[in-house]
Amino acid sequence: MGNELSGVVEAAGPGVSSFAMGDRVFARVDKDVMGAFAEYAVVDEDHAARMPASLDFPSAAAVPLAALTALQALRDELHLSAGQRVFIPGGAGGVGTFAIQIAKGLGAHVATTASPRGEALVKRLGADVVIDYTRERFEYKLSGYDCAFDLLGGDTLARLWSVLRPGGRVVSIAGMPEPVTARKDLGRGIGLAALFWVASLTTRLRAARHGLSYRYLFMHSSGADLADLASRIEAKKLEVVIDRVFPLAEAKEAMAYLETGHAKGKVVLTMS
Ligand SMILES: NC(=O)c1ccc[n+]([C@@H]2O[C@H](COP(=O)([O-])OP(=O)(O)OC[C@H]3O[C@@H](n4cnc5c(N)ncnc54)[C@H](OP(=O)(O)O)[C@@H]3O)[C@@H](O)[C@H]2O)c1
Repeated sequence: MGNELSGVVEAAGPGVSSFAMGDRVFARVDKDVMGAFAEYAVVDEDHAARMPASLDFPSAAAVPLAALTALQALRDELHLSAGQRVFIPGGAGGVGTFAIQIAKGLGAHVATTASPRGEALVKRLGADVVIDYTRERFEYKLSGYDCAFDLLGGDTLARLWSVLRPGGRVVSIAGMPEPVTARKDLGRGIGLAALFWVASLTTRLRAARHGLSYRYLFMHSSGADLADLASRIEAKKLEVVIDRVFPLAEAKEAMAYLETGHAKGKVVLTMS
């Protein structure tokens, strides 16, 4: 198990030119291999980058999966630009805390949802509008947004169409995968694309009814994108928010805590 890590390079394979023994790196490991919950892991050279010098190992390990997902969704799929308005439901969690900051860094206006437990955090990270999802329904408060980055799926995704203007775009990481997910993100053929076409039909029809596009993103490992994130962290434009740190021996407890769905920022495992 384990999608992401930070650590010190112990050995480099033949042909590796970017890293050498002793380098401090962080990475989102190959999604077909995983294995980051361990003292040693194998990482593809193209999936790693040098850790930001200002971060310790737990903070660096908290970056790759969530921050890459946020960056790739907002920059590459939603093409978010200065002055646009983006709705990011669920902003207080692992992906959300990075997404709010990256969207603000791109010059966008950001609305998010959080409970009273997460309100101060998402405001500090730059959210312009915060709706308390335990008391208010966001679809009654927001309208005319250019795009949405859905982190929750389910009932939230089912209700967010009316928040957007016609022609708006929705990218979800928690809803239903669709044919582009199969082809572009997973490199799979017509079989899986057809399956996802059927599975996402209701979601895509709802989007089309509102004149919107819908895309389910499965993020990809990228050392180049990680290096971009490292420079944002070094420039103090991106803060890493950690909720709790567990020793590796308590990985089960850490996963159970994460599964409560109430983490504020990231949950990290340490080796010592
Ligand atoms: N497709 C991909 O490539 C990809 C990549 C990474 C993650 N994911 C998925 O993306 C989802 C989000 O990941 P994550 O790591 O950000 O999750 P997370 O850290 O577990 O999110 C927890 C946060 O969500 C908030 N929350 C829960 N229910 C909410 C609601 N109804 N409205 C608003 N906020 C709510 C919680 O706030 P309160 O405690 O205040 O309720 C908590 O702060 C997960 O399903 C994950 O599996 C997908």
